[in-house]
Amino acid sequence: MTPHRLQLVSLADPSALAARARDEVLQRAECALAERGAFRIALAGGSTPRLLYRLLAEARADFARWHVFFSDERCVPPQHEESNFRMASEAWLARGGVPGAQIHRVRGEADATAAAAEYEREIALAFRTTDVPRFDVVLLGMGADGHTASLFPGTTALEDTRNFVAATWVEKLAAHRVTFTVPAINAAHCVMFMVAGVDKAAMLRTVLRGDEAQAHYPVRRVQPTNGELLWLVDRAAASELAHDD
Ligand code: 6PG
Repeated sequence: MTPHRLQLVSLADPSALAARARDEVLQRAECALAERGAFRIALAGGSTPRLLYRLLAEARADFARWHVFFSDERCVPPQHEESNFRMASEAWLARGGVPGAQIHRVRGEADATAAAAEYEREIALAFRTTDVPRFDVVLLGMGADGHTASLFPGTTALEDTRNFVAATWVEKLAAHRVTFTVPAINAAHCVMFMVAGVDKAAMLRTVLRGDEAQAHYPVRRVQPTNGELLWLVDRAAASELAHDD
């Protein structure tokens, strides 16, 4: 089993981070289209990726062969201000390029468990496989508590090794979520973290130090089985890395 290849790139600020992420995504899209005829990307939610999605809206690419998924979603309607689908649509997807039938929204507004099962079926159909779906790129963010996607410390979804998509109750948010599981993330050709802001600095230092005491943080479970692990961070988020001996 080829171990994953880890790369950490520190960029000056969120704009530079978004520009580098755009370049990395477009480069991997070209490779995927050449090798597999399609590019399958799972988008991160939250606020950090918004700048990247705006840059993708302006980019030139063969979007007609892109398939867009979401690595997690809040259980709200698509027009809700909390919706990751809404954020990505307003920043990029609604402005054309990727065919609507190739934008795969998580329908979490009804029942989270049913939505997770439906999304898993939708992924299997899109990949034409019931084996592990290997996304070309899975975009992820990181919370200051070490969560990623909607995999939060101490949740059952974090321990789910049977499914690729899981429903989860997040006590600290008092909210249901639908999320990729660790196996779905680690099967990717490339997992790309985007982390910005000084509020992430302490956790970034903790999770990158790599000692076993930190293994319980969900972010630490992201170890691509046979792919790349790329950390794109801004200077503020990386501000405590320099303190490492
Ligand atoms: C979500 C995300 C979540 C996010 C982190 C970082 O749905 O909220 O998937 O994992 O990436 O919480 O969020 P920010 O980019 O807003 O800091």
